[in-house]
Amino acid sequence: MLEGFERYPLTFGPSPIELLRRLSDRLGGAVEIYAKREDCNSGLACGGNKIRKLEYIVPDLLASGADTLVTIGGVQSNHTRQVAAVAAKLGMHCRLVQEAWVPVEDAVYDRVGNILMSRLMGAEVQLCEEGFDIGIRQSWMRAIEEVKAGGGKPYPIPAGASMHELGGLGFVGFAEEVRAQEAELGLRFDYILVCTVTGSTQAGMVVGFAADGRQRRVIGIDASAIPRQTKAQVLEIARHTARLVRLGRDVAEDDIVLVEDYAYPAYGVPSEETNSAIRTAARTEGMMTDPVYEGKSMQGLIDLVRKEYFAPGSKILYAHLGGVPAINAYSHAFRNG
Ligand SMILES: Cc1ncc(COP(=O)(O)O)c(C=O)c1O
Repeated sequence: MLEGFERYPLTFGPSPIELLRRLSDRLGGAVEIYAKREDCNSGLACGGNKIRKLEYIVPDLLASGADTLVTIGGVQSNHTRQVAAVAAKLGMHCRLVQEAWVPVEDAVYDRVGNILMSRLMGAEVQLCEEGFDIGIRQSWMRAIEEVKAGGGKPYPIPAGASMHELGGLGFVGFAEEVRAQEAELGLRFDYILVCTVTGSTQAGMVVGFAADGRQRRVIGIDASAIPRQTKAQVLEIARHTARLVRLGRDVAEDDIVLVEDYAYPAYGVPSEETNSAIRTAARTEGMMTDPVYEGKSMQGLIDLVRKEYFAPGSKILYAHLGGVPAINAYSHAFRNG
């Protein structure tokens, strides 16, 4: 599906798939849980899902003649850290707008984890007061104008690289990669479970898995706590991406499955159940997840398995999209493990 699109390699290659045997057993053994480790997909500052998206954006930014990448996220954004890493790798400037998306509890919230790495990689970090939003932001538009006014040539990348023309392509590629790995492993996944916030990860998967009729088996677990806006954005990106890759059919509203039950109490704020799911994954598999994203999709996975949402014998692929650096900003929640 992606033959016509140039890709700039930033990942190690296909990300590994592993069986989570102890977690599957802990949850009763009726289903088999596998993880696709996007959190280990690249050597660029711990990797993650944005690296895969950026592989299809970098050719466009190189062709544009830009010298400065300009993007936006929360203070502990994984996305901005990955853009900073790509800028460093390409020898470009990077300007990051980091908004106050999360009510902060840890004293060092704006010093550790993702933002520490972004600063270390040479990005210009601007903290600002605006609250959470997954759409196009004024603060980001202003930063783009400021780069221009300073004589630079900006390349704008919206939050999560999602509302970018090419933002959905990377996870179309994910689906194609999974199909090839399924052939090697001699199995077929019945469900693919993914954490969703800005939307292009799920949207790309929906388009990619639509090629073999599995788009409704992509189960998005909302971590935005604004599921209506998030679902609409996933649909918009999926429709756009389907046209771009000439899928040959439209994406229906029902093709977007977004489970709303685990994002509470707010974006970036873990519930006790989220933290408990993080502990379960850590203690059964040594697999780290974070309180903002993957902890919530892990909570969803555990709860849905317990509720028998998946038929016995199902093979479930948990997309681990990264995000672990942010756990350093939640030291209080895990002070006793
Ligand atoms: C670790 C992690 N998981 C999941 C997501 C959600 O992906 P998307 O924003 O493409 O919906 C993000 C980014 O927002 C992320 O950084």
